[in-house]
Amino acid sequence: MPLEFETDDELERSTNQWMAVGAGLLITMALVFPFYRWYEPSSRDEAREEQAANLAAEGETVWSFNCASCHGLNGEGAVGPALNSQQFLQAATDDQAELLIAVGVPGSEMSAYSLDHGGPLTSEQIKSVVAFIRSWEPDAPDRPDWRDMVGG
Ligand code: HEC
Repeated sequence: MPLEFETDDELERSTNQWMAVGAGLLITMALVFPFYRWYEPSSRDEAREEQAANLAAEGETVWSFNCASCHGLNGEGAVGPALNSQQFLQAATDDQAELLIAVGVPGSEMSAYSLDHGGPLTSEQIKSVVAFIRSWEPDAPDRPDWRDMVGG
């Protein structure tokens, strides 16, 4: 009998110990989970922002080699309209800008830039240059005359 008692005691102690460990784990997970939930989407947002920033950086190169001569190094306009203006940036969606750059404006100095239309740029490069143009939007100047320099 006394021996059995000891064994039960031992078993109970070990059971209690494991239950305590289990409860501890459960509480830890319950505490950590909200942080994980909070951190996960924010790290995805960061990845998305980083991707957009990389695309815009690639677009800056495309811009300086292909577009700056007519639209200005910072999009301020020259022979071509000022694309850094609030007026252009608010009026045009990314898709519209990509299409226009791909096919050009017939009868103007704005030629077609996509490979499909005999231009030098891949669709990825056109996307990137639009991302670069878009990156001006936060401090885009108000320029009601943004189209006035056309042909000038
Ligand atoms: C040889 C000069 C020239 C070059 C180089 C040039 N553009 Fe243009 N671009 C123009 C002119 C001129 C217009 C105005 C066309 C019109 O509507 O008559 C224009 C229009 C545009 C428009 C449309 C603006 C609107 O009216 O909504 C976009 C967008 C644009 N250009 C982007 C680009 C991009 C991006 C590049 C480089 C890949 C580029 N352009 C290169 C001359 C140029």
